Amino acid sequence: MSETVGMAESASMIRMAFVGKGGAGKSTIAGTFARLLARRGRPVLALDSDPMPGLPYSLGVEVDDHPIPDDVVVAGPEGGPRWVLRPGLDASAMVDRYAVVGPDGVCYLQFGNLWGHVARLQQAQHAWSQVVAELDRDRWHLVGDLPGGTRQAMFGWARYADTVCVVVEPTVKSMHTARRLLTLAQAKWGPSNLMLVVNKARGGSDATVVSERLGVQPVAVVPCDADAVRADRRGAAPLDAAPDGSLARAVDALVDRVVSLYSLGSLGEEVAQ
Ligand SMILES: Nc1ncnc2c1ncn2[C@@H]1O[C@H](COP(=O)(O)OP(=O)(O)O)[C@@H](O)[C@H]1O
Ligand SMILES: [Mg+2]
Repeated sequence: MSETVGMAESASMIRMAFVGKGGAGKSTIAGTFARLLARRGRPVLALDSDPMPGLPYSLGVEVDDHPIPDDVVVAGPEGGPRWVLRPGLDASAMVDRYAVVGPDGVCYLQFGNLWGHVARLQQAQHAWSQVVAELDRDRWHLVGDLPGGTRQAMFGWARYADTVCVVVEPTVKSMHTARRLLTLAQAKWGPSNLMLVVNKARGGSDATVVSERLGVQPVAVVPCDADAVRADRRGAAPLDAAPDGSLARAVDALVDRVVSLYSLGSLGEEVAQ
């Protein structure tokens, strides 16, 4: 795996990205993770790249379509980047103006859908890249819910993250996507930690099937949770529907794992082989 992230004090703030096939459970796990992480005391910024956002539901934020407005991104200067944040608007101003504060104090910022044409997604990605690059590393834990599939996740949305979590459900198609995403380990800019989480497991054999097929041990196994299914039907956050349910407990164990990686300074060792 690529170079280890320097373990200056800033590395104690988590920079995490959730990737995986659409429907694997990225948004469900990312939102629950963000809230449980926030309960440990430091500010969490949840970043949503999805044009059809699922993250607000799992966070319990009372907005679904709340993207940053079109005019935050303008054409860049000649010879410079193609798009830039509007002059006078920096990363922290973006958070102050456009983030919504949800349960457990998690700040939620939605990028995926600048209103209008699909080409606007490119601008959204520039806004995303600039915000994650310029945000104060010592202030925020970042928890990003990335686009489904491999292309965008591998193409730049994940670069800010020093921990990338591949969410996989025990289906052939989801494992196929996960296998490709695990090659992020070879990317030049690849994350120090690339971890696998098995979601919607029904019994222990599901985790075994996934780990044998992908050749990677999962760091967490999240069960298929009937409360989460019911919560989903009414758009409720799984954490509010079942605060001590099996999904919440499994994601809390994942938070433990990630926090200990950062606080023990072992970033760079938790690698998928
Ligand atoms: N552990 C789980 N148990 C039961 N249902 C789940 C679980 N994780 C996710 N789901 C459900 O699976 C569907 C897809 O989850 P979602 O988080 O939206 O996936 P993604 O963001 O990867 O597209 C949703 O209906 C969600 O409620
Ligand atoms: Mg989603």
